[in-house]
Amino acid sequence: MDKDFGSAKSPQTREGLQYHIRCKLGDVSRYVLLPGDPDRVQKIASFWDKSWLVARNREFVTYSGVYKNVSISATSTGIGGPSAAIVVEELLRIGADTFIRVGTTGSIQDFIHVGDLIISMGSVRLDGASRQYVRIEYPAVAHFEVVLALIEAAESLGVRYHVGITASTDSFYTGQGRPGFRGYFQSWMKNIIPDLRAAYVLNLEMESATIFTLANVYGVRAGGVFAVIADRVRDEFVEGIGVDNAIRVANESVRILSEWDLLKGEKKNFYPSLIRG
Ligand code: URA
Repeated sequence: MDKDFGSAKSPQTREGLQYHIRCKLGDVSRYVLLPGDPDRVQKIASFWDKSWLVARNREFVTYSGVYKNVSISATSTGIGGPSAAIVVEELLRIGADTFIRVGTTGSIQDFIHVGDLIISMGSVRLDGASRQYVRIEYPAVAHFEVVLALIEAAESLGVRYHVGITASTDSFYTGQGRPGFRGYFQSWMKNIIPDLRAAYVLNLEMESATIFTLANVYGVRAGGVFAVIADRVRDEFVEGIGVDNAIRVANESVRILSEWDLLKGEKKNFYPSLIRG
């Protein structure tokens, strides 16, 4: 059925429905979890006290709900920077200001094991989408409040986690040093993991550099927690391991952030002694 999205420059319906995610103002919380996988959105929502499907279009599925008295949403980004940028752009237009990526990842350090979680402090920008926003020297940092809330959540849930730098690529295979079809190989692929490992990068995934860059460019908050399903040191791959823990940590971090946001009152930033009052 035809649907009029008004302007080609800024496509949304008269009611404000965004072209890709098909959500409008009032549909989502300020706190939005961002998994890549559309099927993971319902899984995330299954941990909430109340939840409902808001919209489903292409790879973009959105649920909203309530978790421990906090309004919360989750939207899938699909895989990679371009679709993640679309989701962040459209969620910003309808009031979201805090983004928490919940994903899976490959670890590249020997002290990290499958099933562990990684909380990202920032991402090496090996993506393409973030370059269409700002020059490459601009840092893709996670927001300190989101990082701190994720750490607090991981500690309170007693899960094994690491905190550090992530690298985001636009290619799961060649970009992450895996041979392409029929063993396709380029000489630089040999060095990508050793070089990042030497620089103490913890893990590889495909969306956080774009999400973090956009969040910084627009002055909002973003962070990310990843379940390690691939161990690139010992060459192990276990689908799904640690994902429930990543979801629990992400949900709990929203409760913590909402508490800190209340404590902040007129202050712009959270800092630990605000808790003492
Ligand atoms: N996601 C990635 O981008 N890489 C991995 O190795 C695992 C999950």
